[in-house]
Amino acid sequence: MARSAAIEKRLEENPESLRMLTGDRPTGALHIGHYFGSIRNRVKLQQSGAEIWQLIADYQVITDREMLGDIRGSVHSLTLDNIAAGLDPERATIFTHSAVPALNQLMLPFLSLVSVAELQRNPTVKDEAKTAGITSIGGLLLTYPVHQAADILFCKANVVPVGRDQLPHLEQTRVVARRFNERYGATFPEPDALLSEATLILGLDGTKMSKSKGNVIELRMTADETAKKLKGAKTDSDRVITYDPEHRPEVANLLLLISLCEGVAPELVAEEIGDGGGGALKKRLTEAINTELAPLRARRLELEGDAAYVADILRAGNARANEVAEATLDEVRERMGMVYT
Ligand code: TRP
Repeated sequence: MARSAAIEKRLEENPESLRMLTGDRPTGALHIGHYFGSIRNRVKLQQSGAEIWQLIADYQVITDREMLGDIRGSVHSLTLDNIAAGLDPERATIFTHSAVPALNQLMLPFLSLVSVAELQRNPTVKDEAKTAGITSIGGLLLTYPVHQAADILFCKANVVPVGRDQLPHLEQTRVVARRFNERYGATFPEPDALLSEATLILGLDGTKMSKSKGNVIELRMTADETAKKLKGAKTDSDRVITYDPEHRPEVANLLLLISLCEGVAPELVAEEIGDGGGGALKKRLTEAINTELAPLRARRLELEGDAAYVADILRAGNARANEVAEATLDEVRERMGMVYT
């Protein structure tokens, strides 16, 4: 949190010094957890003048599942979500893992810098294996934090907006950068995480947000679908609404969402709703979310039909990512003394 605060300060004073990279796995549509946890920060960084790199982490889809599903559809959808949310393809580089060979090749020297024991301790990897019901962890799942280090370091990003669950990977990236620099000379920055204040948002049933549990509001939903989904959100039997995250986690979560949309403290929202009960709470949240997402949804609808537009953006983003990844790989080879001709 202290590091995040330091970045916020740099963002005001010296935005050009910031290069942001973040990524999403194309496993389905983005939801409000992504939106409040990361996307709003991306757009804010872009608006302040930081350089933006937005990865669609397609190789990471097969870390915890065998099948890629409708990968084309998911990549298309993810690109749209990001642009509709405000990423400007003229200023942000949007690209996919699979189209940038030099990025992937960085994983080789990076793997030599980490130990198996260190990888096996990574709590996020363990968590993902557990959630996916995997008992025998595959080679890619075990090593994907190192692949993620390649994602971040290939363009020498120094700020990474993520949720709390990604902190172990960011720490791994810093370790990889540090060890590479120690062994071969100063090459990579040690990037900082930018945590949003919204990393604790839960699903509509009060458990961890997950598309497979159906407890999320997707960005692309219509206003009506959102209203219907929120009607089913879990509350409790206490009619008077109060903000009490410890004893009333479901109600507190809905209040927090309103607070994030409206920019009003959750305690104040609770006071205003008072004895209106769960019904009034959900009604206010429905309005808040639909208002917050209306511009994004309108823009998304506009772009949706234009498959060529999305393809053009990815083509340009991949070309730029390749240029930078090749330059970094050249530098790495040079530092390692692997230049022979
Ligand atoms: N692992 C991230 C997730 O599951 C996605 C991701 C891939 C990422 N590469 C990244 C996030 C680089 C930040 C930086 O959400």
